[in-house]
Amino acid sequence: MVAELIKGNEIAQAKRDEMKDEVARLKEEGVIPGLVVILVGNDPASLSYVRGKTKACKQVGINGKLIELPEETSEEKLLELIDHYNQDETCHGILVQLPLPDHISDTAIIEAISPEKDVDGFHPINIGRMMTGQRAFLPCTPFGIIEMVKMKGIPIEGKHVVVIGRSNIVGKPVGQLFLNENATVTYCHSRTANMKEITKQADILVVAVGKMHFVGKEFVKPGAVVIDVGINRKDDGKLTGDVNFEEVEQVASYLTPVPKGVGPMTITMLLQNTIQSAKWSHQTEGVH
Ligand code: GUN
Repeated sequence: MVAELIKGNEIAQAKRDEMKDEVARLKEEGVIPGLVVILVGNDPASLSYVRGKTKACKQVGINGKLIELPEETSEEKLLELIDHYNQDETCHGILVQLPLPDHISDTAIIEAISPEKDVDGFHPINIGRMMTGQRAFLPCTPFGIIEMVKMKGIPIEGKHVVVIGRSNIVGKPVGQLFLNENATVTYCHSRTANMKEITKQADILVVAVGKMHFVGKEFVKPGAVVIDVGINRKDDGKLTGDVNFEEVEQVASYLTPVPKGVGPMTITMLLQNTIQSAKWSHQTEGVH
């Protein structure tokens, strides 16, 4: 068996086409979704990510604003800026690119963003709402993974989902989202004993480790769905995942490639969260 690819780039593009129409409709009602992206410092990878985010906004008609601040910006200054956009009714989403310089507390910054504008879904209020199944902004990569699986018509309910990785941004929340969809979820991580015995039980295996080609075919049950969240750069500069693609494609039923897999979905879900935020704020206008 050779696995069918789940082409995130194509799913992402189809979603962005739909979003374009939705944003046009919102404009007719006088609402222009607005996203403010803040970058502190000049890390080249972060700069390329935030430029990708604001460019994607423009593609679908979202008003995306990029604010680049110098490395030495104080935490106080950044908090003031966040407060300004918390009050600004034309801004529906605030994203502060991580990691921040060492003299700024990630936690303080994330908690300063209004939960109603936290389109990254990193604020503890949104994490709590997600865990309890309330209306919440969902973190973009986990949200994108669930969307890809659903778009392919892959059943989730009752399935055994194994997640390798337990980061706050991907591993922990993606397991929670699969649990919310009535899957049975197991987490594996760097201290897990007998990892392969566990991952071989997975109907859906999510790999978010950050190590090139960590998962070979001996981790995978024949016919399993394998989602590769890794982004690693090879010596030749090309991107590759946490999964040994050539091996695993021989045993899995579905597999996400790297690049053109999970990556393109992440920004797409950020756009979706921003549009959702604009709609929610519009709906509650005058309700106070
Ligand atoms: N750094 C790496 N990924 C992300 C993300 O999804 N959001 C933010 N704000 N920073 C990041």
